[in-house]
Amino acid sequence: MSIEPFDVVDLIRTKRDRGVLSTAQIQWMIDAYTRGYVADEQMAAMAMAIFLNGMSRDEVRELTLAMVASGTRLDFSGLSKKTTDKHSTGGVGDKITLPLAPLVASFGVAVPQLSGRGLGHTGGTLDKLESIPGWRANVSVDDMMTQLESAGAVVCAAGSGLAPADGKLYALRDITGTVECIPLIASSIMSKKIAEGTAALVLDVKFGSGAFLTDIERSRELAQVMVRLGEDAGVATRAVLTNMNVPLGLAIGNANEVRESVEVLAGGGPADVVALTVELARHMLELAGVVDADVEGALRNGQAMDTWRAMISAQGGDPDATLPVAKESHVVTAERDGVLVEQQALPFGIAAWRLGAGRARKEDPVDHAAGIDLHAKPGDTVVAGQPLFTMSTNDPARFERALEALAGSYRIGEPGDAIETGGPLIAGVVEA
Ligand code: URA
Repeated sequence: MSIEPFDVVDLIRTKRDRGVLSTAQIQWMIDAYTRGYVADEQMAAMAMAIFLNGMSRDEVRELTLAMVASGTRLDFSGLSKKTTDKHSTGGVGDKITLPLAPLVASFGVAVPQLSGRGLGHTGGTLDKLESIPGWRANVSVDDMMTQLESAGAVVCAAGSGLAPADGKLYALRDITGTVECIPLIASSIMSKKIAEGTAALVLDVKFGSGAFLTDIERSRELAQVMVRLGEDAGVATRAVLTNMNVPLGLAIGNANEVRESVEVLAGGGPADVVALTVELARHMLELAGVVDADVEGALRNGQAMDTWRAMISAQGGDPDATLPVAKESHVVTAERDGVLVEQQALPFGIAAWRLGAGRARKEDPVDHAAGIDLHAKPGDTVVAGQPLFTMSTNDPARFERALEALAGSYRIGEPGDAIETGGPLIAGVVEA
């Protein structure tokens, strides 16, 4: 039996007492946790100590690199194109990856998007794309390379081989109240993105009621830590701070979000979805060395749509197939004339989730047709009886709980009342 160089209890005590862990200690701890030598309850105590006492910049970097080293690392250097990717910290109605990946790839760069499934009120990109008949999330590394050379973009499941220590630790944090912690979030996200092997990365860091860090200053700090981690690991990284107080776009769900994304790729779609897609595309292209790209033009002239069709077809999907439609729907109307002054992201996300669009446990299926379509956004004038939003599901027993989640979440005021969106959609950019 090999002798272990450290005792994890000593390391937990160090962090509990606000000490600093060395590189060797962090590397050993993550390796020993991945091997199963350090037990879940010990790692849970460590996560709570980090949550309460924080980590130094060096510690966060070493934690991130140790999690990268716990698994395989993809290498796209053999591709004929530069790679650039995006990660969002998650929000309600956030379907931006769907129009963004083909839009950016249509300028001749490669977009390898390794994504996850949704858990809780923010949907997962793979769940959304799986509403397209035939579309497969699992792509081998060889097929990923081929698709990046041909279509230019691939959105697929991140295999369990990438940063497996993060997979274990994230599941543990989820059940121990240690998710909302900047060093742990930053190392978790960045370990996966560094292992994915992209040369450039744009982070969409959300703040507001529908984001998991509600306060903009905390989101800015998270963005700064992640940008530094990326740059330290040789990934050109930039972050955009974006407002998640109000749902993004008009669709919240899976199939309906695909529909909205296709509208954007056809040159239409809601203004906020278009604005964020264009902003993120510009940053991704700039980091990949493509300057002055006519990003809006590529949405209008079919260039991005052609790439979308190629990307969906390459993974077995039929871009022309009819998307699933729910058997039941329930329309909520305005009870009086006025102006819609408030529409809170979190309750709408929870309601869509309760309708079946999201899952409560990892193994639950999702109802691809379930969700909410908004017919008005904050600032819109409404008249009594006008539809405000439509809820859809295949299980009508779910309407009641969804409506409970929405109680008090939207408000009709008088013309001239303040519109409560919590500021502009794009609140700033964080660069190295
Ligand atoms: N997403 C991740 O991948 N990790 C976190 O810690 C939080 C969000």
